[in-house]
Amino acid sequence: MNAQALTLEDKIRGHHKSQLELCERLEKIADDLPDKYDRQECLSIAWQLYPAVRSAHRFEEQELFPLLVPTAASEEEISKSIERLKFEHWEDESSAEDISLYLRQLIRHPESANIGKISYMLRGFFEGLRRHIAFETEHLLPKLREIQ
Ligand SMILES: [Fe+2]
Repeated sequence: MNAQALTLEDKIRGHHKSQLELCERLEKIADDLPDKYDRQECLSIAWQLYPAVRSAHRFEEQELFPLLVPTAASEEEISKSIERLKFEHWEDESSAEDISLYLRQLIRHPESANIGKISYMLRGFFEGLRRHIAFETEHLLPKLREIQ
């Protein structure tokens, strides 16, 4: 499939898929803590996580959300949902930065790492992101189909 043939929904699903793959990888690291985790994988995720999450969020906020607000039949409901989703984007970007920092510190100074805190952060992040993506898939993508 060439890039021009991709619909907006395809692109959103592509961003969701990339983020869900990152969630899988984060879950594997969390499962492998405290001492079986892959150091190279931690560094790789530390580089990729924030840019991937931010790029997905910017795309949704610039391309998807503006289409949904003025057209939704239940306008107030969708506006509230979008406000909440934007807030979750902001929270997730902040967490992605923290996680990247903590993963780098884990690799540099494993002896002083707070493993319990890292595990808690990773699990909170990927569980929240999966819920966020499930909501967008279940509630926003059908609305997009209605108006396109
Ligand atoms: Fe989102």
